[in-house]
Amino acid sequence: MQVHSATDADATALRRAFGAFVTGVTVITTGGPVPHAMTANSFTSVSLDPPLILVCIGKGAVMHQCLSETSSFGVSVLAAEQEAAARHFADRYRPLGLAQFDAVEVTPGEVTGVPLIAGASAGFECEVWRAYDGGDHTIFLGKVLSLRRQDDSAGLLVYRGQFGEISSALQGVSV
Ligand SMILES: Cc1cc2nc3c(=O)[nH]c(=O)nc-3n(C[C@H](O)[C@H](O)[C@H](O)COP(=O)(O)O)c2cc1C
Repeated sequence: MQVHSATDADATALRRAFGAFVTGVTVITTGGPVPHAMTANSFTSVSLDPPLILVCIGKGAVMHQCLSETSSFGVSVLAAEQEAAARHFADRYRPLGLAQFDAVEVTPGEVTGVPLIAGASAGFECEVWRAYDGGDHTIFLGKVLSLRRQDDSAGLLVYRGQFGEISSALQGVSV
């Protein structure tokens, strides 16, 4: 076992320890005049009443700027077969603007028109509700305006920097 104090932990040690927490994988999207999409696993459900979710966005990310310029965003919870989309929207060398969506099928949300990834396990349209300082990230809370679900898909996971999947029948996890 490796032990680091919080003060001497370097970024690599922190990333590795944080990566021991298994998460799903989402793509955050903005539309209209600021079309953009970014892979994020910091998504968390927060509240049922009002319906709130959160996502933490690095202050240096293009998405951070986009979320500061728009009132709504989308969250697509990726299905197991969508690893390529997760990799694409995490690639800093992908084209920006509308061109980045050429590689992945999207459909517009019913309320705001934000792009949502087609075939995702779940999709949410959100209104930017609050933003809180979170160190080198900003914590964006979104109020859910609409949701969609597809229950028959296996989910995409990330664990220790590797993608894996889990079926809804909980028959097994493979990483
Ligand atoms: C599985 C995975 C999860 C990620 N989660 C986040 C996240 O929650 N927040 C974040 O700011 N970046 C996250 N990233 C990194 C961004 O996707 C990546 O830096 C991206 O290139 C930023 O895009 P942008 O600067 O064009 O908006 C994640 C990357 C991967 C592969």
